[in-house]
Amino acid sequence: MSDISRLGVVGCGLMGSGVAEVAALRGLDVIVAESTPELAAAGRYRVTASLDRGLRRGKLTRADRDQALARLAFTHDLGELADRQFVIEAVAEHREVKLEIFRQLDKAVADPDAILATNTSSIPIVDLAIATGRVSQVIGLHFFNPVPVQKLTEVIPALTTSADTLARTRAFATGQLGKTVIQAPDRSGFVVNALLVPYLLAAVRMLESGTARAEDIDSGMELGCAHPMGPLRLIDLIGLDTAQAIAESMYEEFKEPLYAAPPLLQRMVAAGHLGRKSGRGFYTYDTSPMS
Ligand code: CAA
Repeated sequence: MSDISRLGVVGCGLMGSGVAEVAALRGLDVIVAESTPELAAAGRYRVTASLDRGLRRGKLTRADRDQALARLAFTHDLGELADRQFVIEAVAEHREVKLEIFRQLDKAVADPDAILATNTSSIPIVDLAIATGRVSQVIGLHFFNPVPVQKLTEVIPALTTSADTLARTRAFATGQLGKTVIQAPDRSGFVVNALLVPYLLAAVRMLESGTARAEDIDSGMELGCAHPMGPLRLIDLIGLDTAQAIAESMYEEFKEPLYAAPPLLQRMVAAGHLGRKSGRGFYTYDTSPMS
């Protein structure tokens, strides 16, 4: 049985906002930290917009929405996470940035029993653990996008993670966040991305080589294999920059060509075609607030 009531979330992009929303809806007191007041305000807006969408679609009552918002606080000061019992870091996939956040969290979070988790997709958990003075209490907790919809989290103990941290994290993810847990090894890509990323990159190569059109690649997998969305639409959802960063980490780890980001993906990221979040990726999207 998990006993976490005070959660910290660092980063309020696609993943952090989803984690914060789920946790607040399930009754946790959540403080979300971003790096600037502007990003903290944007984070609050993102979570509020998602709760409002749930209300419009009849998924949430007004009381659910209002109570969740009342449980959420936003800050640009990691120091405000001092009383947290569990912190989930969910910033972009930049190794140095994550290392620095773990160094700071280690100082900021006062409770010696607190667990520091990372939502990284591909950076070694042990590297983040040894950046802190509490190596046994650092663990991977990897969510899937959209977090309110996807039922899975991967729990990734590093070589340094204690059995107690693993057990408490599993109990927290299942009992309190309502997710189904699979345990994954501390290898870049864990279980799901080790299978998913080569497939996504193969779809980009298929498009790049002129073998098939984007719509045909996606329809092929949606209608032929009953995937909820085809691989190019899925990269647009994940974010092309995130997909590229994950592929690069996996390539760095294994040196396998199947993990190498194809030139088309790299050029699209350079051009700012990042998928849904930028309004343009393999497809174009309406980015107006009501969409
Ligand atoms: N928040 C809350 N609920 C949401 C939501 C969100 N952001 N987005 C969609 N939903 C809900 C909708 O309310 C709807 O619920 P009901 O069916 O109960 O009404 C349901 O999800 C379906 O949504 P839509 O009808 O709007 O759209 P859809 O049927 O096209 O589904 C989708 C959208 C949920 C994204 C679906 O296409 C899907 O599951 N796609 C696959 C996503 C996937 O593979 N994610 C994993 C990516 S890998 C990753 O995240 C890890 C990594 O490290 C890269």
